Order: sequence, then C-alpha cells, then structure tokens
Amino acid sequence: MGEAWVEIFDATDAAAQADAVAAVWCDAFDPIDDLAEWRDTIFDRHRGREAYRLAVAFDIDGPVGLAWGYIGQRGQFWPDRVLDRLGRVAEPWVGGHVEFVELAVSRRARRHGIGGRLHDALLAALPNRHALLGTSSDPDDPAVRLYRSRGWAPLGLLDADAQVMLRPPDPARSRDGRAARSSSRADRVAGAEHPRR
Ligand SMILES: CC(C)(COP(=O)(O)OP(=O)(O)OC[C@H]1O[C@@H](n2cnc3c(N)ncnc32)[C@H](O)[C@@H]1OP(=O)(O)O)[C@@H](O)C(=O)NCCC(=O)NCCS
Repeated sequence: MGEAWVEIFDATDAAAQADAVAAVWCDAFDPIDDLAEWRDTIFDRHRGREAYRLAVAFDIDGPVGLAWGYIGQRGQFWPDRVLDRLGRVAEPWVGGHVEFVELAVSRRARRHGIGGRLHDALLAALPNRHALLGTSSDPDDPAVRLYRSRGWAPLGLLDADAQVMLRPPDPARSRDGRAARSSSRADRVAGAEHPRR
C-alpha cells in the first residue's frame, strides 16, 4: 500500500469527518445499519465530551483508520460500568481519566504501522493523564498486543471476553500538555468491537 498520513481533529472539525469515520468503522467492525442513529448515539455523542479529539488516517484512496478519545467522567455509562465490575482496583483511576475509546484500521491497510501511529497521535493530542480503555481479554488479540507494546497494562476484567487496560501519563509531558496542532497533517506514515459508552 502507498503512503498514508494521520490528521487530528477537534470536536468542531471532526463533524465533517463523520462519513470517513463511518466508512472505516464498517470495514473494520460491522456494517452500520442506520447511519443517522450511529451518528447520533455514538459519533456525535462522543464528540460532545470534554477534550474530545479524533485521529483519522488517510491514503491516496481515502480514509483507512480512525481513533478517538476524550476525558471520561463518573456518571457516564462506561466509567460507571468499570467501577461496578472492577470495584476497588478501579477506584483511583475512574473519573477525569483519558478514555481511549476507539481504534480501527481498514482490513486492507493493516500491519503497516497505521494503528500504532493513530494510537500515538491521538494520545499526544489528548491531555497527559492516566488513560483507560476497554478491549479484548485475549492476550493474542492484535489490539491487545499493540496496547501492551505501547505501555498499557491490564487493570481487570469487565467480563470473560473484555478487559480494562490502564496507561500512566507520559513523564516527558506536562499534565495537560497536548499536541499543538488541530486539523493539521500531523503525522506522515510510510507504507501503509467497540465497547459501548
Ligand atoms: C488492532 C488494529 C487497530 C491494529 O492496526 P494495524 O495498523 O494493523 O497495527 P500496526 O501495523 O500499527 O501494528 C502495531 C503493533 O500491533 C500489534 N499487531 C497488530 N496486528 C497484529 C496481528 N495481526 N497479530 C499480532 N500482533 C499484531 C503488533 O505488536 C504490532 O507491532 P509490530 O508490527 O512491531 O509487530 C487493527 O488490527 C484493527 O483495526 N483491528 C480491528 C479493530 C479492533 O480490534 N480495534 C481495537 C478495539 S479495542
């Protein structure tokens, strides 16, 4: 595959990326039956969250990857589920954390470093705090391998198939330091299930 690049969008600029994100989502996860409902209940709802950032990877043929995250708070569905399932082990970490919500790469573009670049670009664009995500409990799952290689560690099981992972802040950045650019061609790369919240 050819050259690809990653762009970062804030909540306002991300609105225009909904179709690009939906295309990657359908390829990487499942087809979206009702685009308007997906946009309302997932894409736009998350876009309204504190410090939201979207990372989209493109190549010359169009979008090939997505990632997004925000600051999660108690009272929201997923953080409260984590507290409910993990109990005391999660107490210090839930609320005001970075929530690394989605990461996906189109099937044709995998194993070319795009997932890793999306991960790094998104975290750099979010406040530098400890971060949580939900993913497969299978240690051989590609996403889990990616996360483990990038500083995430298991925190506990949500159920038999799903775990919560925790990543500490980057000691080289200030607490709320972010990448300076928004909607910019931030990161050129060569070659080239979602938990409900
Ligand atoms: C997980 C996913 C985003 C990885 O994207 P990718 O662009 O293929 O990943 P990269 O090429 O950047 O790989 C980065 C690291 O991830 C791990 N990895 C990725 N795919 C892997 C695979 N099929 N098998 C084993 N490890 C894999 C490796 O550690 C790899 O590092 P390496 O290339 O030095 O070995 C992609 O497989 C995907 O979209 N999967 C479906 C959606 C999904 O599960 N999302 C996560 C939800 S929590």
